[in-house]
Amino acid sequence: MTCTDRRTFIAALASLPILAHSAPLFAVSPDLPYHTRPIGRAGALPLVGMGTARSYQDPQAPEDWAPLRATIARFAELGGKVIDTAPSYGRAEEVIGQLIEELGVRDRLFLATKVGADSPEEGRAQIADSFRKLRTGYIDLIAVHNLRDSANQLAYLRELKQAGRIGAIGVTTSFDPQYSDFEALIRREPIDAIQVDYALDNRNAGERILPLAQDLGLAPMINLPFGRGRLFEATRGKPLPAWAAEIGADSWAQVFLKYIVSHPSRPIAIPGMAQTRYVDDNLAAARGPLPDAAMRQRMERFIDAL
Ligand SMILES: NC(=O)c1ccc[n+]([C@@H]2O[C@H](COP(=O)([O-])OP(=O)(O)OC[C@H]3O[C@@H](n4cnc5c(N)ncnc54)[C@H](OP(=O)(O)O)[C@@H]3O)[C@@H](O)[C@H]2O)c1
Repeated sequence: MTCTDRRTFIAALASLPILAHSAPLFAVSPDLPYHTRPIGRAGALPLVGMGTARSYQDPQAPEDWAPLRATIARFAELGGKVIDTAPSYGRAEEVIGQLIEELGVRDRLFLATKVGADSPEEGRAQIADSFRKLRTGYIDLIAVHNLRDSANQLAYLRELKQAGRIGAIGVTTSFDPQYSDFEALIRREPIDAIQVDYALDNRNAGERILPLAQDLGLAPMINLPFGRGRLFEATRGKPLPAWAAEIGADSWAQVFLKYIVSHPSRPIAIPGMAQTRYVDDNLAAARGPLPDAAMRQRMERFIDAL
């Protein structure tokens, strides 16, 4: 490039309209829309959200807070919506509430938390704390954590939904031994959403729970989409297979997430993340091509052979 060319190029760049946000130019292709689904009355939620177990439980020093603040900011900036937390994740609810208030992004997010209590009184007190810690008058989804005291807790959640304090009601599990009770409960109780463990190497929910949720018209959310670190351990040092390009995946995380969100029930995966580079990487999995049934089988054979 000559000096004049460079000057012309720079002048042309300077005349471009300022972007609404400061996303790096090569991060996520902004021209592809997210694949989305509704939960209850909230429509168009990208199929990748974020989880907050462990990493948000107890930040102390400013250097602990900085990556968490940057992660939430980036998530909101890229149009991420669903943030999943719980009273049992240490101070996570409080941390999320503070950061969302500081960043002024409450209205752009779908906040999901849980209730894990053993009596109606304990549940009410815990939920009151969730509103206070999350610094919001409206919580988009509250789910009964691991089926605990579900009949009592669901009764109160229904009151809250009727009163317009919460948008949707759900139940969660992440244990196969709870699946039978979980299935019975979601058949029996009027709820909006479920949350269950499902991953490329942990597929039981894909055969049992997710098809049932789909039949019942419930919105599925997926916890442990990477089996914590398990899938990254299994593929460490291995190059991406050639077929990854066919599904528009350029990282292992995107391979794992695209497998999940392409389940016919179209679930929302909530990978735990506390780094901006994970936000860019993971949200990109909710855009572009998704694996079809044949490709999903190919992915399963690949992981089973490792
Ligand atoms: N029963 C329930 O209701 C239940 C149970 C379990 C979980 N949950 C929810 O589900 C969420 C997800 O589960 P999880 O956080 O335990 O496990 P996970 O999502 O399977 O794994 C999270 C870990 O994967 C790594 N990671 C994330 N994005 C990555 C990327 N792009 N590239 C490489 N590594 C990446 C991070 O590890 P490093 O930080 O170590 O790098 C992160 O801590 C939880 O946060 C929680 O909100 C609910």
